[in-house]
Amino acid sequence: MKIVQIGTGGWGKNHTRILSQLGVLVAVCDADSQKSKEYGEKYSVNHYDSLDKLLDSEEFDGAFVVTPTSTHTTIAKKLLEAKKHVFVEKPMTYKSEDGETLAKLAEKNKVILTCGYIERFNPAVDVVKKMVKDKTYGDLVMLEFHRENRMPLHIKDVGIIYDTSVHDIDTANWLFDDMPQVVFARAGKIKHEHEDFASIMLGYKNDKVAIISSNWITPKKVRKFSAVCTDAIISSDFISQEITVEKNEDTETVQNEKQEPLLLEIQSFLGAIKGENEQVVKAQQAVNVTKIAEAALLSSQKGIPIYLDLK
Ligand SMILES: NC(=O)c1ccc[n+]([C@@H]2O[C@H](COP(=O)([O-])OP(=O)(O)OC[C@H]3O[C@@H](n4cnc5c(N)ncnc54)[C@H](O)[C@@H]3O)[C@@H](O)[C@H]2O)c1
Repeated sequence: MKIVQIGTGGWGKNHTRILSQLGVLVAVCDADSQKSKEYGEKYSVNHYDSLDKLLDSEEFDGAFVVTPTSTHTTIAKKLLEAKKHVFVEKPMTYKSEDGETLAKLAEKNKVILTCGYIERFNPAVDVVKKMVKDKTYGDLVMLEFHRENRMPLHIKDVGIIYDTSVHDIDTANWLFDDMPQVVFARAGKIKHEHEDFASIMLGYKNDKVAIISSNWITPKKVRKFSAVCTDAIISSDFISQEITVEKNEDTETVQNEKQEPLLLEIQSFLGAIKGENEQVVKAQQAVNVTKIAEAALLSSQKGIPIYLDLK
C-alpha cells in the first residue's frame, strides 16, 4: 500500500512518523518547501510543495490531509477526484455543505472518506463505549466533557468550537450512538480572534444530555470526561487513559493498556483501504459534527436553542 501525507506541520509530523514506521509512506507535501524537504529527507521519501505536482508524479492509494481547516475542502476534493482514499483531519470542512459535497464525491468514486475524530480510537473511550453498550452500569443518561488548555495564538482560521469542542461532540454522538436533536451554547472570546471559551449542551432523545466545556484560557491541560449511568459514574482522562468507576462509596480503577490513539486511528484507515472490517469515522458522521458545531456557534450568537434533524 502507498500513502502520501499532505501537511507536515505541528500535528502532521506525527502522521508522517507513524506512516513511515508502518512502511507505507511514499511521499510528503507541504506548501512550505522547507518543511516538505525536511520530512522528505528525514523519512527518505519524495517531497513536494504542491498537491498538483504530487498528483502529477506519484502513484498511491490513499492520502492524509493534515493542513489548516480552511484548506481541507480544496485539497480533499482534488484527491477524491483522483479516486484516492482520503483521511482528512478534523473538522472535515469549515462549512457542512462542503462536507456533503465531499461525501457525495467519495461515494460516487467508491473511495473511503474519513475524518480524524481521534478520541474514538482512544483505548479509554473504547472501554467506556463497551461498558455503555453492554449496560455494565445501567443506562447512559448524561455525558460531561472538559477540554481546557492555554493555547498559543497560532490557530487563525477557526475558534475553539471547530477546533476543540468537535472532538467531544463526536465522542458524545459515538457514546450515545445517536445524533442530538437540539443544541444550546454560550461562547465568547478573551484572547483569540475567534471564540476561545464555550459551553455546549447537546440534547438527545429521551432527555439525555451531553455537556461540553472547552476553553483556551486556563493554563492547565485538562482533557476529561464522565459518563453518568443509572448505576455508576464512569470517569476517564483522555491523556492518562485511566478509567474509574464510582459506585456506592467505592471507587474502582479499571485496568487498561495505554496506547497511542493516532497509531490505532491510522491502522484503522489502512485496514479499511485493504477492505478489512475496520471501523472508520463515516463521512456523514463527520459532516454531522460540523453541522452541530455550526449550530453551537449560531446558538451562542443568537442566544437560542437550535433544533436539528440529522441523518
Ligand atoms: N486530531 C487531533 O487531535 C488534532 C490535533 C492538532 C491538529 N489537528 C488538525 O490538523 C490540521 C493541521 O493542524 P496543525 O496544528 O498541524 O497546523 P499547522 O499550521 O502546524 O500545520 C499545517 C501545515 O500545512 C501546511 N499547508 C498549508 N496549506 C497547505 C496546502 N495548501 N498544501 C500543503 N500544505 C499546506 C502548512 O505549511 C503547515 O506546515 C487541522 O485541521 C487541525 O484541526 C488535529
